[in-house]
Amino acid sequence: MSTQNTDERLISTEVQTGENARANLPDEPVLAARGLDVYYGDDRALDDITIEIPKNKVTAIIGPSGCGKSTFLRSINRMNDQISVCRIDGELTFRGKNVYDDDVDPVALRRKIGQVFQKPNPFPKSIRENVTYGLEVQGKSATDEDVERALRGAALWDEVKDQLDSSGLELSGGQQQRLCIARAIAPDPEVILMDEPTSALDPVAASKIEDLIDELVDEYTVVIVTHNMQQAARISDKTAVFLTGGELVEFDDTATVFENPADGRVEDYITGKFG
Ligand SMILES: Nc1ncnc2c1ncn2[C@@H]1O[C@H](COP(=O)(O)OP(=O)(O)O)[C@@H](O)[C@H]1O
Ligand SMILES: [Mg+2]
Repeated sequence: MSTQNTDERLISTEVQTGENARANLPDEPVLAARGLDVYYGDDRALDDITIEIPKNKVTAIIGPSGCGKSTFLRSINRMNDQISVCRIDGELTFRGKNVYDDDVDPVALRRKIGQVFQKPNPFPKSIRENVTYGLEVQGKSATDEDVERALRGAALWDEVKDQLDSSGLELSGGQQQRLCIARAIAPDPEVILMDEPTSALDPVAASKIEDLIDELVDEYTVVIVTHNMQQAARISDKTAVFLTGGELVEFDDTATVFENPADGRVEDYITGKFG
């Protein structure tokens, strides 16, 4: 570790004990932002975000539309690299390594930090090929066992095991979303980012995804953006509340955030006074 990094760490530790202090920082962070700002051109979408996301837990990100939730997720696995006007300041680490260091390969990073989007987006290929894609882009050949393991991991195997060569697009919306989860877990990531993964699904399909998330955290760290506060309360261990202006105003155990938030604006948001 360079001296400069050590200095940055010391500075950000001071920030955490100052007025931006976050209570109950977890012990074993897999992801950490320190003083993270994200800009689109001159507009700041995230303002001085400091957070530590614990391993093998579900962290929910909630907040009104436009407050930077998707921007934050995209900054974690460098999907923002693909937006030319996007600029990042501050530090975002994955297992202690700044993901914006010059020697980080974004493609390799995204295999360790997979992503699932709001609208299920399977490729127009067979179920099997959707799952093997993640391994084959690494030049690895995927075995039948790999396919079965990923589909079992996504709670989809029993429903598709006799039709692995039919198109992923023939599945229902909820099955397609679980196929996308299977595709994300096939390369054996450590973190799965989910951006409103159930908001395009019917309640039964959404509930299956919620049950699945509960199983996924045994093996993975899950960070999920949701605008459904009941969902955040049901499935997450930690909740981060972002508000307009791209500020992280509260981050704590989910029960504390929902039952006894420290910030009055969070209480107003959760009780539906705005947003
Ligand atoms: N590709 C982009 N180019 C320019 N501005 C963007 C882009 N994506 C998001 N923004 C802006 O950044 C802010 C945060 O957006 P976003 O992260 O999508 O919020 P959320 O997911 O909470 O709804 C908004 O003001 C939005 O208009
Ligand atoms: Mg969004």
